[in-house]
Amino acid sequence: MKESQLARRDPATQSEGVVAGYVQTSQRWPAQPLVRRPLTRSELTGPQQLLKRLTPVRGDLAGYGDKRALGQLIHIRARVVDEDGAPVPGAVVEIWHCNAAGKYIHPNDSNDAPEDPNFYGAARMVAGDSGLVELRTIKPGAYPVPDTDGWWRPPHVHFSVWGRIWLSRLVTQMFFPGDPLNDADPILQAIRDADARNRCIARLAPTAKGPQNALVYDYQIVVRGKGATPAL
Ligand SMILES: [Fe+2]
Repeated sequence: MKESQLARRDPATQSEGVVAGYVQTSQRWPAQPLVRRPLTRSELTGPQQLLKRLTPVRGDLAGYGDKRALGQLIHIRARVVDEDGAPVPGAVVEIWHCNAAGKYIHPNDSNDAPEDPNFYGAARMVAGDSGLVELRTIKPGAYPVPDTDGWWRPPHVHFSVWGRIWLSRLVTQMFFPGDPLNDADPILQAIRDADARNRCIARLAPTAKGPQNALVYDYQIVVRGKGATPAL
């Protein structure tokens, strides 16, 4: 990968660092302009065989029978492509989300919502030749953001996509079409360009084309270029 391929953030299509109404972002984002430094071989190459370090885990968070997680069963078909729409086989895709009641499996989640012992909450998969990963899971719930004035996160699924080097990582969120909370979510709305925002929203596939007991959502992750999926 050349340095020129590591594009600068586009302020229209990538969210701003400090998001109004989301206090924590001001603690995570530099207050001064970034200093651009030439990348050297150590940044542009990296450990090979990423899969040996990031072991794939199951692509099923919903379980079966007595061990089924509560909630609406969904099937996510996420496709990783480059700026030309060509698949990115071998991309390592990590996915995590909260349970149907809006509770994460994380000690810092203070949301007063029940845990679900049958819900695991995270998966790591490898994109196949067509750039596709498929996840069977349940639809996550909305949850209130602590210390805010009534902000509820809309249902969403976190994605992390690793390329062939450590620097080529995209962390983003997938939203569900038509959710009324989408329009009020400071994180999604921090992307000013409407087309770029829409790239974060999955598409409900015709039911007949998917497993009959699950709603199927198609989601395309564009890892770079002008039409790249915004980082969130
Ligand atoms: Fe979240």
